[in-house]
Amino acid sequence: MSLIKINNENGISEITIDRPEALNAMNQDVVAEFSSVLQAALSDKETGIIIITGAGDKAFIAGADIKAMQKMTAEEALIYGKAGQKLTMLIESSPKPVIAAVNGFALGGGCEIAMACHIRIASENASFGQPEVKLGLLPGWGGTQRLPKIIGVGRANELITTGKIINAEEALRIGLANIISSQDELLPTARKMAGTILRNGPRAIASSLHCIKEGLSVPIKEGMKIEVQEFSKLFHHDEQMEGLTAFIEKRPANFRD
Ligand code: CAA
Repeated sequence: MSLIKINNENGISEITIDRPEALNAMNQDVVAEFSSVLQAALSDKETGIIIITGAGDKAFIAGADIKAMQKMTAEEALIYGKAGQKLTMLIESSPKPVIAAVNGFALGGGCEIAMACHIRIASENASFGQPEVKLGLLPGWGGTQRLPKIIGVGRANELITTGKIINAEEALRIGLANIISSQDELLPTARKMAGTILRNGPRAIASSLHCIKEGLSVPIKEGMKIEVQEFSKLFHHDEQMEGLTAFIEKRPANFRD
């Protein structure tokens, strides 16, 4: 039985983790299926943007699978940890924007998947946290690396060492969530934002995301070099000509046809 649902419409690929009986906890099978579905969305020419969400109205993803981990050896944990990390790297380095529509618990590996996404939209009942230390574990899918970059070192130290779970309002306040919407409006809000993004130049979007990501791990001078190279590379393609010409001709740009 499939653990992931996929729906492709209007250039948007919606990926739903579909294991509601375990609050969409990600065992090895979910990680593997999620990775291959994501790869397919990345190579699909019709897909311009990806939305990730969880099945049901309770959880986005309640984390890595605790029951599976209880039976793992250190070697198996290494393989599982690497597979989860690889998935988050695939999301983070996607040239197509990835929006997390966080519809409930985003805990442990679930929070880590959400953090790898470019944008996080939270429903009012969403909650976020890295409670791994309560299990004698640490966030193993990139949480120790991405959380400090998103909310700052002090707050990340606090969240990770206390294991406390925060609500959507607090996530919004500290910059972990971009916006909050009602549960009913969560997917429509994500789709509306996706539609806005889809009207913009796909190469320009991909290059912008690349510069932002690379800039986070290099000195500013290096980041500036990457940025100006990407800026000039855009002039090799029709996309910038269409955007600039559309402005001058006072008409909407048409980047995708
Ligand atoms: N793994 C496996 N199963 C999980 C799970 C998880 N992460 N989270 C929930 N479930 C299962 C429960 O075991 C339960 O199944 P059974 O009915 O078969 O017992 C079912 O989902 C429903 O869960 P609850 O009855 O616990 O629901 P609740 O509403 O009372 O509580 C919750 C919800 C607060 C999210 C609670 O389920 C919980 O604390 N879950 C664990 C969250 C967590 O610690 N996540 C981090 C995992 S470690 C990790 O992710 C490591 C990493 O960085 C890679």
